This record gives sequence, structure tokens and C-alpha cells, in this order.
Amino acid sequence: LPKPKIAPSMLSSDFANLASEAKFMEDCGADWLHMDIMDGHFVPNLTIGEPVIKALRKHTNAFLDCHLMVTNPADYVKPLAKAGASSFTFHVEVTKDSCQELIKSIKSSGMRAAVALKPGTPVEDVFPLVEGEDNVDMVLVMTVEPGFGGQSFMADMMPKVKELRRKYPHLDIQVDGGLAPSTIDQAAAAGANVIVAGSSVFGAKEPASVIRILRQSVEA
Ligand code: DX5
Ligand code: ZN
Repeated sequence: LPKPKIAPSMLSSDFANLASEAKFMEDCGADWLHMDIMDGHFVPNLTIGEPVIKALRKHTNAFLDCHLMVTNPADYVKPLAKAGASSFTFHVEVTKDSCQELIKSIKSSGMRAAVALKPGTPVEDVFPLVEGEDNVDMVLVMTVEPGFGGQSFMADMMPKVKELRRKYPHLDIQVDGGLAPSTIDQAAAAGANVIVAGSSVFGAKEPASVIRILRQSVEA
């Protein structure tokens, strides 16, 4: 199984103190920082974009895992690469025939490439992107409807994770939405190894211990 990676979602952090929140998460044992970029169109919420990634990059060397909940991901590739993003996740629902081109441009810009699917999207839709010549490094299985932190984990998404893990033993498989000590065992058992967690980490008295619990479950 690929290495576990715990990625706190900075959406649940104090945006007015982003640099110190990022530093805090690294000190708590985070592997990646998950950055939720929303355009108010693909999802009914508006968050951050390239200027904030650029600003944060001046304060940290952390791996910035950018999740693009936007209608036109191609427009963001060059700016985000320049801003210092480490990974670029686009949604399969908005890409239609242009996926291979998009993956190619993400990778040639020096970022890792990943594809996300909403709860209503069949897992088969991403198979060609994992197997294609220009393939993704990771698949993100959404376990809530994208747009907001603090929603309930959808356990009925676990068959998608299982299917991906069965087909692709070495693929990074990420889950995002409602991950917490109470739900991690289901995701880990299904085969997820990259864990995004926002409210459960930032809402905890001891975020470091939540991160440790999440990691231990994936390692078990
Ligand atoms: C939701 C975002 C998630 C969100 C997760 O659209 O993609 O990354 O921040 O938050 P929690 O862990 O609170 O469900
Ligand atoms: Zn996310």
C-alpha cells in the first residue's frame, strides 16, 4: 500500500492567520496541507485562489495539495504552478474530453496531477485517467458534496475506494469530507491512504493526536 499521508484541510483554519495555522499543522505532524479552492460556480461557496497560495508559499515549504472546485480548471494551472502549488486536483465532472491535455499541462508545470469525483459520479469515469498515457498521480473520492467543511461522512462512497484499490494497488487514493477518528477505519479498510480532515482536526483540543489516530488507522 502507498504511504499514508494526512492532509489537514486549511478550510477549517483561521484564514486571517493562515501562515501560523499552516506552521501549527506541520508541527502537529501533517504530511500535506489541503487547500480548497472554490469559484462560487462549480460549488456554492467562494474561498481562496492563486494570490493566497502565493502568499502562503512565502511562509512554508509544506506540500500544498490544491483541490480545485472550479468550472474552468485549465485557467488555474499556470498561475497556481507559479504561486507554488505542489499538487493540482481537478474535478472529472467539468473536464469532458480535455482531461489528457489538462493532466499534461499540470505535470509539465511541475505539479502532481489528481482527479476528483463528486458523490454522484461513477468511479468508472476516472479509470481512463489512471490508465492513460498522461495519467494522474492520485484519485480523490469525495465523501461529502463539495463546497463546505463540517458535513457528515458518506460511508456509501467506500465501494468506489475499494474498487480503485483493487484495480490500482499502488495508486494514491484520497478521501475528503467527514473524516474523523470515528470514520477513518471505514476509509482505511476500503484502501484510502491520503486522508483530508478539516473540522475534526481543527476542532479538536489536541489536533496532533487526531492526526496520529488517522495515521495509525491507515497504517494498521
Ligand atoms: C469540502 C472540501 C473539504 C472540506 C473537508 O468541499 O473539499 O476539503 O474542507 O472538511 P471536513 O473534514 O470538515 O469535512
Ligand atoms: Zn477538499
